[in-house]
Amino acid sequence: MVPSGGRGNGSGRIGTVGVVGLGTMGAGIVEVFAKAGLSVVGVDGTPELAERGKGFLTTSTGKAVARGRLSEQDQKALLDRVTWTASVTDLADVDLVIEAIPERLEFKIDLFSKLDDIVRPDTILASNTSSLSLTTIAAATKHPERVIGMHFFNPAPVLALVEVISTLFTDTKLVREVRDLATRLGKKPVVVGDRAGFVANALLITYLARAIRLYETGSVSREDLDNAMRVGAGFPMGPLTLSDLIGLDVVKEVCDVLYEATKDPSAAPPALLQQMVTAGRLGRKTGQGFYDYGPDADESEQPASSGRALAVSTIGLLGTGEALAQLGETMEAGGLKVVHSVTASAALGEAQIVFVGTDAGCATGECAAGACECDQMGPAQEAISAGLSKIGKNAILAPMDGLAEWAIGTPDEHARVVVPVRLHEPTKGGQVLEIGTGLDSGAREVAAVRTAADRAGLVPVVGRARSGLVVDALLYPHLNDAVAMLDSGYASAQDIDTAMTAGCGYPEGPFTMIDRLGADQVTEGLAVMATTVGGAGPSPLLVEHAVRGRKFLD
Ligand code: CAA
Repeated sequence: MVPSGGRGNGSGRIGTVGVVGLGTMGAGIVEVFAKAGLSVVGVDGTPELAERGKGFLTTSTGKAVARGRLSEQDQKALLDRVTWTASVTDLADVDLVIEAIPERLEFKIDLFSKLDDIVRPDTILASNTSSLSLTTIAAATKHPERVIGMHFFNPAPVLALVEVISTLFTDTKLVREVRDLATRLGKKPVVVGDRAGFVANALLITYLARAIRLYETGSVSREDLDNAMRVGAGFPMGPLTLSDLIGLDVVKEVCDVLYEATKDPSAAPPALLQQMVTAGRLGRKTGQGFYDYGPDADESEQPASSGRALAVSTIGLLGTGEALAQLGETMEAGGLKVVHSVTASAALGEAQIVFVGTDAGCATGECAAGACECDQMGPAQEAISAGLSKIGKNAILAPMDGLAEWAIGTPDEHARVVVPVRLHEPTKGGQVLEIGTGLDSGAREVAAVRTAADRAGLVPVVGRARSGLVVDALLYPHLNDAVAMLDSGYASAQDIDTAMTAGCGYPEGPFTMIDRLGADQVTEGLAVMATTVGGAGPSPLLVEHAVRGRKFLD
């Protein structure tokens, strides 16, 4: 039990809060509490650091005033609710302390044992640790039952998630109290047990590590990689931009903890990440990470497809499929001439790029039109092969083949350059056309497809022609991890969805995404990737949903 003191039960009794550590997260947490009307004592190691914390809050609330989100009067009242100090002894009379100091276990243990002797016996001790074991921190205190995790997400004033983490020691009434407090702050609490990375970081940081590893291979430029996930998958930021925001040291620390706990190679810190941390390139906070943030910034990397593009004026569409038709419309709207043929037509002879639909078809090409009952629905290679001989010898063949199976497995017998592409559904940021590069695709041909995509207003993403290209190669394993987490009994599908939408700004959670895409599609993608490029196959629970045609959220 929490030792009884002046505060009593109920989050409404929490009126004064201490925040220790006034870096990005700590200062953001101060803002959250002060905005909700609570009194806050902000503490950092030196008067200068405390002053820096005050500066963060003044700047952040100043921006809100400038945007018309906060009146000057309310800003003043908010700032007046906070006192700044370099001494933890000033926390003697607070109801709750939140620690947001650097992620070093020995620092945290030291701080918590100091707090034990300073604060009232009924004061709650919370940690904002992103990955360290709360059980270990709690066990080192005199009253482990009052120790709890309150994990905020960067930027704390914007993102709604608070992971409330309990240990075997934690008083259950305290869990309710802290959950209610988070709600009172306008946040969305998700209550979970003490496990490496909790919900959001375990999923997010593993995905970031995979993305950094992909970037490390040189198969995609940093801008294209970020566009793939921001525009293609609809995430609020690309993985490299997000890593820079979080801080590469923090990403690495969480990788270390996840890998140590799970021995999952996907979570291991990529070599490039380790080197960047050693070199002090920690992202925004040091002015340099995957991107530069200093005054001389903005040197774009050469896109992977650099090279003089072949001129493109006519696009051919061969075969059938919704994506093919949609691509044709978009290209036409972009001012390109588009000729379409289900099987073969001499008109395709003038096209510089022929996009090949692979959705459906039979030798007559009439299946898709509903005029044939030959029952040969499936990949359209056969139907299309008849048409290939009619295509110009120098034309680029661009099969609409997201898994890049066709392009990898079937070299064009007429020795034309094959560049697999995948058109994604439009998202808030636009619509991605992924373009795969292989041994046979020359830089000029890839640049031509890229130029056509640009002209059509699509966002081109050029990456090596491997199963899943870039978007699905990162998205599907991420979704698979969420299913594995559900299967492990750690968190519910709803809580995992809430964690990723409220904590990482996803437009929809992983389970909503799987239900929309279809468990069968994700399963198939993962299975193909596992056999062609490696990685874990689909989780058994995902396969079960695919086979039964069941949704995760009903
Ligand atoms: N502090 C306060 N407010 C901020 C802010 C900050 N640092 N950054 C942005 N905002 C506010 C803006 O003022 C703006 O407010 P209004 O709508 O009231 O005007 C709003 O947020 C949107 O900002 P922008 O229009 O500038 O930009 P955006 O729409 O692209 O949103 C973003 C920016 C909120 C950062 C969004 O891109 C996002 O959610 N990204 C994902 C971030 C993420 O995944 N965070 C979790 C990281 S993991 C973590 O933190 C846990 C850990 O332990 C490592």
